[in-house]
Amino acid sequence: MKIIIINGPNLNLLGKREPDVYGSETFDSFFNQLKNDFPQIELSYFHSNIEGELIDKIQEVGFSYDGIILNAAAYTHTSIGIGDAVKAIATPVIEVHISNTFAREAFRHQSFISPNAKGIIIGFGLQSYKLALQSFLR
Ligand code: DQA
Repeated sequence: MKIIIINGPNLNLLGKREPDVYGSETFDSFFNQLKNDFPQIELSYFHSNIEGELIDKIQEVGFSYDGIILNAAAYTHTSIGIGDAVKAIATPVIEVHISNTFAREAFRHQSFISPNAKGIIIGFGLQSYKLALQSFLR
């Protein structure tokens, strides 16, 4: 089973960025742990701060991979282009967020990804990614 985690803007700063909201673990360290926990999954990871690069990656993997775990970060709330890309592909997408976006500012309550996501996992810290992976195994 081939699954990719795609992370959007500023998520490369996990560990340093607002640790009270996003925790103090780096994504690299969490990702290595995740690969150890799910040796049966061919798991890869892509990060970009650039909207078009995220769309390119969604299109590239979106007809051959078994699943995409997408945290489009701030673009979740602004990007019709990423929303359209999720709609255009065949691979199921699970939208994840580390923080509970509904407990935060009103502008974070809107998502252009959710209407076309297979499911949404929000607010469980980095464990949100793990829950998404587990859901693909079911
Ligand atoms: C986030 C929530 C977004 O609102 C924010 O812009 C992020 C991270 C999360 O994982 O909690 O960058 O997607």
